[in-house]
Amino acid sequence: APQWLIVPAAGRGTRMRAACPKQYLLLDDAAVLACTLMRLHDAFPKATLLLCLDAEDQWFHASMVPFARWQRLEGGDERVDSVRAGIDWLADHAHVDDWVLVHDVARPCVTVADLHHLMAAIAHDPVGGLLAAPVTDTLKRQDRDQRIDMTVPRQGLWRALTPQGFRYGVLRDAFRAALEARFLMTDEASGVEQLGHAPLLVTGRSDNLKITHPEDLALAAQILSAQRT
Ligand code: C5P
Repeated sequence: APQWLIVPAAGRGTRMRAACPKQYLLLDDAAVLACTLMRLHDAFPKATLLLCLDAEDQWFHASMVPFARWQRLEGGDERVDSVRAGIDWLADHAHVDDWVLVHDVARPCVTVADLHHLMAAIAHDPVGGLLAAPVTDTLKRQDRDQRIDMTVPRQGLWRALTPQGFRYGVLRDAFRAALEARFLMTDEASGVEQLGHAPLLVTGRSDNLKITHPEDLALAAQILSAQRT
């Protein structure tokens, strides 16, 4: 099991056009944030949670956190800045070989089985890996007029999901190098790749959806109810 969980939850969710950030919308009577933390806790009850929240967050309540050990941190402007707050905090707390799992708060449908599957797959790896799903749609690259420039062969292409799990020392080096090179990491793996490592793609469920648009909330509710039957 991982020693540390970093959950970036400082997004303002502007694409949802909702009155509050998407992590506080209700999914079966509980906030998305509470649902996501519950899944992580079911899988890894003894881990320490680092929860990265917006400084002006008005919706968070400590009762949403099921972990015995957890720490609230201040997120930043971009997802990478919020995760960085967690990585920086770990400098005084983690061992280089410790496992750190980073999971988007907006992915409440991740299953306990997938969480355990990821950890089992990377357990003896020196670097780490992530949950991912093979691309099933045909992919198009656009030209300047938003017409098709070309079809990108989907063979061998994956969608990067979360959690992404890496050794603390690897993540620390990746975040440091990305800052120096001004490389924008959209996920942890991309930073680790820049170091020359090849993270493991661990096949995860394709219903591990990231709530992004308004219609995704109802879809997430359906996925959760289907997973219970
Ligand atoms: O907006 P998007 O869905 O890409 O965000 C992915 C994750 O990053 C979410 O969990 C969101 O809360 C988090 N995030 C953050 N700080 C930001 C922007 C996004 O923690 N400044």
